Amino acid sequence: MEKVGIGLLGYGTVGSGVGKLLVKNAEDITLATGRQVYLKRVLEKDPGFSAPGLDPALLTARFEDILEDPGIDIVVELIGGVGAALDFQLRALRAGKNVVTANKQLLAQHGAELFEAAESTNAHLRFEASAVGAVPVIKVLRESLVAAEVKTIFGIVNGTTNYMLSAMAETGAEYGDVLKEAQRLGYAEADPTEDVGGKDAAAKMAILASIGFHSRTGLDDVAYEGISGVTSADIAHGARLGLVAKLLGVAKLIDGRMNVRVYPAFIPRAHPLAGVTGAYNAVFLESDAFDRIMLFGPGAGSVPTASAVIGDIISVVNTVKGSFVQNCLCYKDVPFFAGADMVSSFYLRLRVSDQPGVLAKIASLFGDHGVSIASMVQEGGGDAAELVLLLHPVREAQFFAALDKMKSLPEVQGESAFIRIEGET
Ligand SMILES: NC(=O)c1ccc[n+]([C@@H]2O[C@H](COP(=O)([O-])OP(=O)(O)OC[C@H]3O[C@@H](n4cnc5c(N)ncnc54)[C@H](OP(=O)(O)O)[C@@H]3O)[C@@H](O)[C@H]2O)c1
Repeated sequence: MEKVGIGLLGYGTVGSGVGKLLVKNAEDITLATGRQVYLKRVLEKDPGFSAPGLDPALLTARFEDILEDPGIDIVVELIGGVGAALDFQLRALRAGKNVVTANKQLLAQHGAELFEAAESTNAHLRFEASAVGAVPVIKVLRESLVAAEVKTIFGIVNGTTNYMLSAMAETGAEYGDVLKEAQRLGYAEADPTEDVGGKDAAAKMAILASIGFHSRTGLDDVAYEGISGVTSADIAHGARLGLVAKLLGVAKLIDGRMNVRVYPAFIPRAHPLAGVTGAYNAVFLESDAFDRIMLFGPGAGSVPTASAVIGDIISVVNTVKGSFVQNCLCYKDVPFFAGADMVSSFYLRLRVSDQPGVLAKIASLFGDHGVSIASMVQEGGGDAAELVLLLHPVREAQFFAALDKMKSLPEVQGESAFIRIEGET
């Protein structure tokens, strides 16, 4: 039987999962491909590296041992980062080797270079695990829905922040305490910046928008905000209004232009995404062709992510060079839609002095900017009075202009908080 050698770069969380699944599911993989797919070499930078179940004879600290091995057909990059990983992937693709990766930041920041390198030798570059871990959203967008003209891709694409916002809603604890607990339980990394700041979700959304809208989108094209400004008070106000807070990735195609962003948002409790709690991920796809599809599952973890990597390996093995779908399918150049022109509904919390005429003043200022109030609730009184407003959909530039003016009113004190509302029907 023909053999397919795998050169695995990195035997960490995901890499070791791939190593184990290749052995454990060897029979299924052979049945799916008609070939014997096996681990031929493993790159780790520490020459003294060892791991349970890994044959030390497979280890090398020299990338060239993989690059120059004619028996290695597929290089699986699972070291992460955008330094050595970029160098290794480019060299492998330019040498005509197929590459499978889970590296979202690398693809979102250097996708153009990588896909060009793949095209130059007709090599395959597969990256299902780079967005939403085990959930096969890229394959669905690229193959199953290729003719469906997907118009909206939005969802929960970061498990850390979803765990944290769920915990804040359940316990009423504040952001800082929940972050510490998430780190203790292993849901957040020691340096959680990429997750809580939205950069991880932004890279995934750049990849999903590229595939879904067939137009190259990079990290620089995605405006992103994290969850550090979301308070348990806002989550509780939202809950009373039937809303649930999530960090959402939102990519929309509007009149031939696209907008891709990441921000904390409220969604109605009845929305299917509202029930996605803990470290789970879910992506909602909308199209005139099929209305709505939701994909749901674990967005990270050793074996779940490794299973998506194995799926990509099988897809490469089953693909005759050059005769299958292109790697990226970015054959369009869709212009971007400015965030300021996007139309959004808002939740707004203001601290005001409880004086006669304040509500009328605020309503009139909003009216002057074309912002219409759907509901307004006052909580508390005296200096601690808070107004919680829900605003009808409005061009974001108008909302922010009104908010700026509002902050200069003497009756409005301290920091205001706003959260977009998504998923309304
Ligand atoms: N973990 C997940 O659940 C998950 C989910 C989706 C996607 N991903 C993506 O999958 C990739 C791998 O993540 P991971 O969590 O498996 O990372 P990890 O546990 O840190 O594993 C990376 C491994 O690669 C080794 N390595 C790093 N730089 C190297 C180099 N220059 N040469 C050789 N070996 C090197 C590391 O060694 P040292 O430890 O000695 O540095 C480590 O053993 C990342 O791109 C990540 O974003 C991960």
